[in-house]
Amino acid sequence: MFGAAPFLGAQQERNPQANPSIPSPDPVMEPINVFDFAKIAKQKLDPVAWDYLDGGSEDEVSLHDNRAAFNRIIIRPRALVDVHKIDLSLELFGIKLDYPIILDPAGGKNCFFPDGENTVARAAGRAKALQITNGGIQKTLEAGKGPVWFQLTTGGELRNTQTMRAFVKRLEAQGCSGICFTTDIMYVSHREREMRNKLERSWCETGLPKRDANGKLPPAQHPWVAGIFPSRPFPTPTWDSVRELRSLTSLPILLKGILTAEDATLAVENGVSGVIVSNHGARQLDQVGATIEALPEVVRAVNGKIPVLVDGGFRRGTDILKGLALGAKAICVARPYLYGLAAFGQPGVERVIELLRTELALDMGLAGVPNLSSITRNLVRIRGEQA
Ligand SMILES: Cc1cc2nc3c(=O)[nH]c(=O)nc-3n(C[C@H](O)[C@H](O)[C@H](O)COP(=O)(O)O)c2cc1C
Repeated sequence: MFGAAPFLGAQQERNPQANPSIPSPDPVMEPINVFDFAKIAKQKLDPVAWDYLDGGSEDEVSLHDNRAAFNRIIIRPRALVDVHKIDLSLELFGIKLDYPIILDPAGGKNCFFPDGENTVARAAGRAKALQITNGGIQKTLEAGKGPVWFQLTTGGELRNTQTMRAFVKRLEAQGCSGICFTTDIMYVSHREREMRNKLERSWCETGLPKRDANGKLPPAQHPWVAGIFPSRPFPTPTWDSVRELRSLTSLPILLKGILTAEDATLAVENGVSGVIVSNHGARQLDQVGATIEALPEVVRAVNGKIPVLVDGGFRRGTDILKGLALGAKAICVARPYLYGLAAFGQPGVERVIELLRTELALDMGLAGVPNLSSITRNLVRIRGEQA
């Protein structure tokens, strides 16, 4: 809970810029928003790693849309509400969270900072953020102390009942709090920046090697290549797999990558615990529009039966406020904390979370909504729509 006076006090104490006569001792306090962190990340990273972090697929139309669509949503602030205390807290599947911002899964963290995977887990722990990990659950919990959901993709785990059961039991035993099944990565898309850069796929896990004296990276053994007809060695997961997964565990199961009312309805019918409206940060199928545009139809279809989360382009407190007003229970982010990671390691991740969280608190105070339950659909209007 933020009270107006202590909140400002803490800002001044942590941020010497609030008093210009005190020189700033800590570079992580210099950037004032997520975009500033992105600039520093770009300066510090090898351009190939930057492209991997920041890029989207094909023409990057959805990447652009994810951000641009926020400008079509207008906040309708309310006046003269007592906002001297702002409460961002919520409960999600029995987990108490201090704020509605969750760290999305992201491969390639070691490309952006040494030991990036564990660095993010430590930062999440310090910031008390719920993290969806694609690293090992055990290591993530050791580094961050949780809570942690595990991100499942189309790997071998879902191939048959035995592998699925063994996998789920291991997750349960390790203290995982939920399973996030990413549904939008049956194939890896054409990410043309990676193709042009001839990015070696394994570097996404290991980190980029050093460039040689001529500034060249070693040649990739398995680069991203265009024009290979898609096929996978095993049948890809279907709603049957979801039903089977559901029957094997009582852990919450979230489907990440839902963009339509039809699939949201199927998610409810198949016993899924929640959905994440996501286009994978515009890194998979292009031309799917912005996730904030897909959110209302998913919220309508789900009709309050399960929580709806959303990600894609959230960079500001006002973006988060708009997502919550359109019916999301919480917002997930990936690139923002990856910018923080690339810029400053653990303190960078923590500071990005702090900035998003305090921007949200401030924007709630300015909009006359002191807690999450007071944020309703009436708080926003789509441009051109009657209020
Ligand atoms: C570098 C990078 C790697 C990602 N890797 C994964 C992944 O392994 N699994 C997954 O479900 N989503 C992955 N995503 C997508 C994010 O989880 C998330 O859906 C998306 O990036 C959110 O949008 P934002 O980056 O604009 O916040 C990745 C995103 C980025 C930027």
